[in-house]
Amino acid sequence: MTKITINPTWNNQLHTDGYAVFVPQDEKEISKSLSFLHKDELATLVSEIKHEKFQGKLGELFSFPLWMSKPGRRIILVGIGPQKDITDETLRKAAGLATRAASKAGVGTLAFRVAAYLPNNETAKDVVPDIVEGILLSQYSFKKYKSENENNVVSLQRAVLCHENKREVLGLERAVELGEMYVQGAMQASDLVNEPSSHITPEVLVSHAQEISLRHKQISCSVLDEKELKKKGFGCILGVARGSDEPPYLIHLSYTPKMPSKKKVFLVGKGITFDSGGISIKPADSMENMKMDMAGGAAVLGVFSQIATLSPKIEVHGIIAACENMPSGTAIKPGDVLTAYNKKTVEVLNTDAEGRLVLADACAYAVDHKADMIIDLATLTGACIVALGPDIAGLFGTDQSLLGKIKTAADDAGEKMWQLPLEQSYEKLMKSDIADFRNISAIRAVGGGAITGALFIKNFIGETPWAHIDIAGPAWAIEQREYTEKGATGFGVRTLLRFLKEL
Ligand code: BES
Ligand code: MG
Ligand code: ZN
Repeated sequence: MTKITINPTWNNQLHTDGYAVFVPQDEKEISKSLSFLHKDELATLVSEIKHEKFQGKLGELFSFPLWMSKPGRRIILVGIGPQKDITDETLRKAAGLATRAASKAGVGTLAFRVAAYLPNNETAKDVVPDIVEGILLSQYSFKKYKSENENNVVSLQRAVLCHENKREVLGLERAVELGEMYVQGAMQASDLVNEPSSHITPEVLVSHAQEISLRHKQISCSVLDEKELKKKGFGCILGVARGSDEPPYLIHLSYTPKMPSKKKVFLVGKGITFDSGGISIKPADSMENMKMDMAGGAAVLGVFSQIATLSPKIEVHGIIAACENMPSGTAIKPGDVLTAYNKKTVEVLNTDAEGRLVLADACAYAVDHKADMIIDLATLTGACIVALGPDIAGLFGTDQSLLGKIKTAADDAGEKMWQLPLEQSYEKLMKSDIADFRNISAIRAVGGGAITGALFIKNFIGETPWAHIDIAGPAWAIEQREYTEKGATGFGVRTLLRFLKEL
């Protein structure tokens, strides 16, 4: 991975092969940001910029060779749009685009001037994690099953973050470390989601969790296997897993802060390692991507892989309900009734609405362990994609102050979330004629499937402040973006780490 260092100067004497310069659209005197160049280079560059009509629109790129200081150098201009619109996300995108352009041009070491243009009310230490995310995430790819490196792109060896303020530069080491943590957590989650379900079985999720706990003194891990799940009454998880040859597990990670804390936050992840739909089997097209149905659980593991380094002030628990949803002669059938961990009964009318079943048990378990806050992440409903499109997660919950904190962290991370209502009048749609609840809406045709899915889970939460994040859309990207790759995104990890840091 690219090594990131800090430098308190910005001039043409840096030992890098390249300079990345962010240029706003409304910059009247572009030569001011480029005044560090030799005057001959500057003159040629300025006339080239005019000739090529480079305007500094967000995402616009211009790569130009330099020759005065040392041969083979290059300057990469990246447009960042109007100055008043600059946000953390602008800088993340610009850093990602610059990094990719540098790699493509064979530039191995690249200098960035981090605070040339800042979002409103932000300082260098606020934007450094974002720039680090852009640099590192833009280079992520999952190519382990490729026999050859297709496009021969070399990765960036080193990025030098330049900031000419001696006092502020001291705080930037931690800011770099934060950015690296966010990225490593997200990449850890992405790797797990990109990996085929043949390799990421519930058992493999267990070993990942155990490995994390062995690496860090402050993290412990306990695992409930099938026998214990039976003994303790996790009827919903067992029901979902019944059709599969892979045994189910409930994974419980816990992080204890150095200074004891009474507050406990529980992160609960849906860990369906493959969702065929079960007996209510999915059509082939909808099943193609269903190795991703453990993205919520992967996000929890991603967070825990970094949590000891982040070292939040309160106790954090991670619960992953890990199993596979398969059809077979032993599978649960539509109409079967399951008894959840909290003794409530559920009539399963569609075995493809399995995420809410495993979350019911996992959330009831969190309540039982005296959670002060529960945040669940799940690739729960296709309906959430219908409601918000592929890029935006649905955010639901019972505690507006908790939701506000999550939304702030998400905005800061550039992970899009939008709150949807827990409409009380829809609750009756989830009542069964013969059991306490049904797992799909009584009238599916009326829509609102993301809401009814969330309302189902709410029945297993009680009074505990709770947030539910439906990540069915953004956990998987259908195309490459400025700093993200096609495929798994690690969605949620960067938000949750920021959220935990502020608690
Ligand atoms: N894993 C799916 C949800 C999903 C869909 C995730 C698309 C990612 C992309 C979930 O288990 C599911 O199958 N949900 C059903 C619920 C329905 C039967 C009420 C759905 O969305 O159709
Ligand atoms: Mg920021
Ligand atoms: Zn399903």
